[in-house]
Amino acid sequence: MTILGIETSCDETSVAILEADGHLFAPQFCVLAMTTHSQIDVHRQYGGVYPTLAKREHGKNLVPVLLETLTNAGLMGSPTSKIPEVGLPKMYRLPTKELQNIFEREPELLAQFTKIIPSIEKPAIDAIAVTIGPGLQPALWVGVNFARALSLVWNIPLIGSNHLEGHLTSPLLAPVGKKSKVDASFPAVGLIVSGGHTELVQIEGWGNYTVLGRTRDDAAGEAFDKVARILGLPYPGGPTLATLATTSTENFPLTLPRPMIHSDDYDFSFSGLKTAVLYATRERPELLSREPLRAALAREFEEAVVDVLITKTKKALEHTAARSLIVGGGVAANTKLRGALSMLAKESGISLLLPLSEYTGDNAAMIAAAGYLHANEPSAASLEAHGTLSL
Ligand code: KG4
Ligand code: ZN
Repeated sequence: MTILGIETSCDETSVAILEADGHLFAPQFCVLAMTTHSQIDVHRQYGGVYPTLAKREHGKNLVPVLLETLTNAGLMGSPTSKIPEVGLPKMYRLPTKELQNIFEREPELLAQFTKIIPSIEKPAIDAIAVTIGPGLQPALWVGVNFARALSLVWNIPLIGSNHLEGHLTSPLLAPVGKKSKVDASFPAVGLIVSGGHTELVQIEGWGNYTVLGRTRDDAAGEAFDKVARILGLPYPGGPTLATLATTSTENFPLTLPRPMIHSDDYDFSFSGLKTAVLYATRERPELLSREPLRAALAREFEEAVVDVLITKTKKALEHTAARSLIVGGGVAANTKLRGALSMLAKESGISLLLPLSEYTGDNAAMIAAAGYLHANEPSAASLEAHGTLSL
């Protein structure tokens, strides 16, 4: 199957084309092309993602991102996005009324869609998979409506993908143009660590999940972002804080808490850790003003997060007698966490599935992969966004 994936749950506008085949226990994927347009520059001034701005940006970017992806995948009948300007004849008529209904709240996207889509040939795609949740509701709707419109105009079936399942499938993806070589052995434990989620999941097979535990307040990535802000680092703080931590040469004079590390469950709580950092910097301003101490604080914070994640994951691996550990989400880009997970997998004698760096953050290839797992299920004609969807 060739699947077009669309992801707009947060601040990345991403479109990918994925070739997928094989049994659902061992699916094989090849990403033909992927384009991800990050909105970080737009949101930075607000110190976080601003939902209505995210919605507007997705609306502006979806059509160009789609055209670039189709071109790179070799699926554009005609050469480039410049065609409409050259005034080539329209290839088919649009169902104007239905499109107006679909894009009721996205007039700008409707205008771009009706101008450009009729001038490109229907691509050789078997299904369109779009993130329906979880995520920012207004942002999700733009992607869902865009997918519904394409599905209508091209008469291609639609699949609603769960963003969290997408993150779990991300380690199966090889670099663009290469076939995946990774298989998961089940039962497996899944660890999702992103800006919005921190979850441990028992996986009996693709599509068969039991959530063991999740964060009760802030997600791991959210804690990175908030602590980075306390340290005066720009948004998104995860990568910059991790970089600062690598420069640390001094011992940190305090020990930060490892919240819930020994609790009798698989839940997490990172909000108290952030507050501990805040109080420490208020009591000892030199933690922020003396560079070696600031770096040491970053390192201690990072170690606290990694300690908690590793301890809980180890417990989940033992409890489920897992044969592999599958990790996904933006924080899976963290070098310290990756090293600690490798060690844990080695000690536990299990295989570790980690995403390549290009698939740790939000991307449409993983959404197409998650879509493949549900390709045989009846697709809803009226797909809806669900901001709080769980696995
Ligand atoms: O998966 P993702 O792109 O978006 C969500 O679904 O939330 O995750 C983004 C999160 C942000 O909080 C970001 O700061 C964090 O992942 N992140 C990192 C690193 N790279 C990204 N956190 C720690 N270390 C990193 N290297
Ligand atoms: Zn995500």
